[in-house]
Amino acid sequence: MRARLLRDVRTRYANPIGFRRGDVVQLGACDTEWPAFAWTTTNDGNAGWAPVEWLRPLGDGSAEALRDYSARELDADNGDDVELLDEYGGWCWARDAHGAEGWLPENALRMPPTPKGEKLSLAVKLAGIDEHWSPRVIAEMNDVQFKLVKLHGEFVWHAHDTTDETFLVVRGEMQVAYRDHEVTLREGEMVVIPRGVEHITRAADECHALIIEPRGVVNTGDADSDLTAANDVWV
Ligand code: NI
Repeated sequence: MRARLLRDVRTRYANPIGFRRGDVVQLGACDTEWPAFAWTTTNDGNAGWAPVEWLRPLGDGSAEALRDYSARELDADNGDDVELLDEYGGWCWARDAHGAEGWLPENALRMPPTPKGEKLSLAVKLAGIDEHWSPRVIAEMNDVQFKLVKLHGEFVWHAHDTTDETFLVVRGEMQVAYRDHEVTLREGEMVVIPRGVEHITRAADECHALIIEPRGVVNTGDADSDLTAANDVWV
């Protein structure tokens, strides 16, 4: 599986720990930021973070390694493509274009689209969106796209001349206003905005919504706006 770097990542440890399956190591406390990792001292006296699930405690503060491990991290630049070889606790073991291998944090990677037939989590996909008014595609069904968007503030008046548009609120509250009335949507509520009808969306506080519409719909419709977002950006 391939992924692309969303930012620069630099290794934090000059001398990463490593062990082989069957080695006995000393186990310390778990990390507060990355609870799937425990502070581990190897036989050579080196210490660092290791996956707790890859270590079988022996009861005396030591543990037996269940598989080979290296804490080596990878240096990578924003936009680099890497191949993902393994995943653990929010980190991926990756190989870069030069053949170097090491760990990268998942939150620095744009993961490939979830394949059809596999489940996806709206919460996980939402965590990968850091801009308002920028719909991100999470799935397609025939010619229909499912997009997640984070709304905050007020959008622009517009209409979609060729298609209806559906909003389903996942979290928070939003308004869809028309020229003569408006509707308020709360979590679990949805609306189908009819084709050709002028509308504007608003959210006083950040609101998360699922948009369901045909592939190729421009978010600002017929309006000329700074808020026009690129199409077909997946998360
Ligand atoms: Ni619209």
